[in-house]
Amino acid sequence: MKPPVHVHKRPLFLYGLLILLLMGAAACGGSDTPPDNTSSAAPTGQDGLSEAQLENGIGPITQIDLPAAIDAAKVAQGEEIFTTKCAICHKLDERFTAPPLGDVLSRRTPEFVMNMMLNPDEMVQKHPEVKAMLAEYFVPMPNQNVTEDEARAVLEYLRDNQTETTDAAQ
Ligand code: HEC
Repeated sequence: MKPPVHVHKRPLFLYGLLILLLMGAAACGGSDTPPDNTSSAAPTGQDGLSEAQLENGIGPITQIDLPAAIDAAKVAQGEEIFTTKCAICHKLDERFTAPPLGDVLSRRTPEFVMNMMLNPDEMVQKHPEVKAMLAEYFVPMPNQNVTEDEARAVLEYLRDNQTETTDAAQ
């Protein structure tokens, strides 16, 4: 019964083409419909995420206020957590299994950094910047089960160890 199998090939290809065309049409149709202006809902940006999510990541941290002064106790706590839970993949000053974090705060907001620690699965699946990093590093950052307080302490450690220039970090 070979001929029927053969006959199937072309329609399958055509279905693929049709799907692509339909997707294209849907995308165009989408931009034609006016956005529904419901209250404060931010307009969706890339990948269906809000501008806030693109900026601050996806997760429990939407806004944090950082005092200018560094909290030494938090830095010490954060360093310990970083050493046990992060340093296996991340270095501060050079690329390793994962991106260097010594200049991460010049690239990302503090909220983004905390959401990466607290909600890496969703960040990896949905955030375009993180998806791009995954394509480069091939390892999806695993959930390290840090609490919000612990993530805040690691953030303080990272704040205390940021390099001035970003060029040197590569
Ligand atoms: C098993 C390896 C691994 C561990 C452990 C790990 N990460 Fe990651 N992390 C990654 C990888 C790989 C990426 C790049 C995104 C991806 O591929 O998922 C990343 C991305 C990040 C980013 C975003 C960097 C940027 O340039 O935007 C931050 C922040 C981060 N990790 C912080 C941490 C912290 C803090 C810890 C410890 C609590 C940690 N990671 C533990 C592998 C790891």
